Amino acid sequence: MTNSVPALAVRNVAKQYRNGPRALDGVSFDVAQGEFFGLLGPNGAGKTTLISIIAGLARASAGNVSVMGHDVVAEPALARMNLGVVPQELVFDPFFTVRETLSFTRGYYGLGARDPRCGDDWIDEVLHNLDLSDKANANMRALSGGMKRRVLVAQALVHRPPVIILDEPTAGVDVELRHTLWKFIARLNREGCTVILTTHYLEEAQQYCGRIAMLKLGRVVALDRTQALLRRQAATRLVFRLGGELAALPADLAAGAEALPDGRLALAATDAGAIESALRRLREAGLQIDDIELRHADLEDVFLRLTGDAPEPAAPVATVG
Ligand SMILES: Nc1ncnc2c1ncn2[C@@H]1O[C@H](COP(=O)(O)OP(=O)(O)OP(=O)(O)O)[C@@H](O)[C@H]1O
Ligand SMILES: [Mg+2]
Repeated sequence: MTNSVPALAVRNVAKQYRNGPRALDGVSFDVAQGEFFGLLGPNGAGKTTLISIIAGLARASAGNVSVMGHDVVAEPALARMNLGVVPQELVFDPFFTVRETLSFTRGYYGLGARDPRCGDDWIDEVLHNLDLSDKANANMRALSGGMKRRVLVAQALVHRPPVIILDEPTAGVDVELRHTLWKFIARLNREGCTVILTTHYLEEAQQYCGRIAMLKLGRVVALDRTQALLRRQAATRLVFRLGGELAALPADLAAGAEALPDGRLALAATDAGAIESALRRLREAGLQIDDIELRHADLEDVFLRLTGDAPEPAAPVATVG
């Protein structure tokens, strides 16, 4: 297998649920081997539907998907062997212990305790890295929600797949576990594992994903490197509260300013020169500035703009003239 085979290839995938919505409407993208890729979108965008199709749990109405070059419909066993999925919904069998659950999952892949790569040593390592060692013999039903989620992550990794997909792995998970989880996932990624992530915690996506696809109503509305997406957004804004009269704001500054809902004003400030000049002009106009802040555009700004959930842009500041 060469590196030119994409870890994941999604081609014109559509999904029409019977008596339901068209959840996917011609989605195409590739994820290269070794990437850390984000699949973002608001609730109902189609992320889980796409993941179910990739995992072979649902059939696409059109298009095709392959994992490490294996078509998920034509070669389901090979595709599945190359893929680990952490599902969004917690599903588990309450009667088994954590270790039994992981052994059974490994068994589904035809692997056993003595497998050289995925044997008990590997399960121990996964348990250790997810901070689950002391729960290995606990019954699944005795675990808290966050611990169950860790087991789901462990289950996705027992067969050491080269591609892992995490569907909101940190939903309802405490800060410490998020930290543990990301440390482990980032390590697997450094070791060559391809990681595909959906999350509503956009700061996680911004931190870890090199490239991001944004879905909205079943269509890809953006697909780019994370840095390029961030650059597309008007970069830095100078946010301040005026002590004096709004009417004294010079007309050209007023035209470019945005009134925020909390009463502050925001000006685009592309570089240090622009910030300096805006401040000088405000001072020259005799305006006093209370509380001032520089806000860098983040992925949330980009997301809200692209997926259309942004509040209506605040009205431009009117000058009394
Ligand atoms: N089994 C199903 N039958 C009918 N409609 C479904 C089914 N599963 C999902 N849908 C619908 O398909 C659309 C996409 O849902 P999906 O779960 O893929 O979204 P999502 O992007 O994962 O959302 P979230 O962020 O809430 O997890 C939604 O309108 C949803 O109601
Ligand atoms: Mg979902």
